[in-house]
Amino acid sequence: NARITASVYSSHVPAIGAAIDHGKTEEPYWVPMFKGFEFSKQWMKENTPDVIFLVYNDHATNFDLGVIPTFAIGTAAEFEPADEGYGPRPVPVVKGHPKLASHIAQSVIQQDFDLTIVNDLKVDHGLTVPMNLMFGSPAEWPCKVIPFHVNVVQYPVPSGKRCFALGQAIRRAIESYDEPLKVQIWGTGGMSHQLQGPRAGLINAEWDNRFLDRLIADPADLSTMPHIDYVREAGSEGIELVMWLIARGAMSDVAGSGQAPKVAHRFFHVPASNTAVGHLILENQV
Ligand code: DHB
Ligand code: FE
Repeated sequence: NARITASVYSSHVPAIGAAIDHGKTEEPYWVPMFKGFEFSKQWMKENTPDVIFLVYNDHATNFDLGVIPTFAIGTAAEFEPADEGYGPRPVPVVKGHPKLASHIAQSVIQQDFDLTIVNDLKVDHGLTVPMNLMFGSPAEWPCKVIPFHVNVVQYPVPSGKRCFALGQAIRRAIESYDEPLKVQIWGTGGMSHQLQGPRAGLINAEWDNRFLDRLIADPADLSTMPHIDYVREAGSEGIELVMWLIARGAMSDVAGSGQAPKVAHRFFHVPASNTAVGHLILENQV
């Protein structure tokens, strides 16, 4: 059967995509940020999965206020990069895995999570920037990707607790797929940042690092943190971090393996644009 080999966590920032697309990654501002992903690019080469289940948020790009799905799974064969105002990013088309995605949709919906099925989806920086950070800029992405969108843009947003439970359901779905696929699950967005209002520019590095500690060591406890704490401590856009709990919930220790995941890599850098960049790679030991 399919199995989850590892989870990857990474912030996304449109300015990172712009730095890549305009050849600015060697500029002093960006060097330390990209340096934190050097290990990761090498690790990805050695640990390329068959499929990435990529939890991210759309930023009112594909989904506008007309329709706001809380959780949406991309079941199409292809996902083109979205035009976020400056034309689509010059990155490869994302290739999906309709068969596995449909299986996950079936299994997760039958486990009582109401997913929206999306067959027509353009992916924005929330998905393409973490792809670049982990793979660099290849001519084609080296594996399939199932995009999984979470609404963290328009209130009301889902709780950390629900996201963590959803991750557990996704794990059961993947493990019941009858083909020996290696699957990674990624949680993206965050860390602390606020782009609006009087607190615009807020970053809380101490809180972010505590979040990383707790995500590694006791995600079940972390998942009970109420929504208001994210907003207060990590800013209005810091709420993107609930997506990391979906990926963490899919790891084997949460399912009761008795084996904590191996922390293959941990990185934190402030700032990238207005955002604190956090990054983790956790490997399942069993
Ligand atoms: C920034 C961060 C985001 O998460 C985002 O979606 C848009 C902008 C920023 O820091 O500029
Ligand atoms: Fe964002």
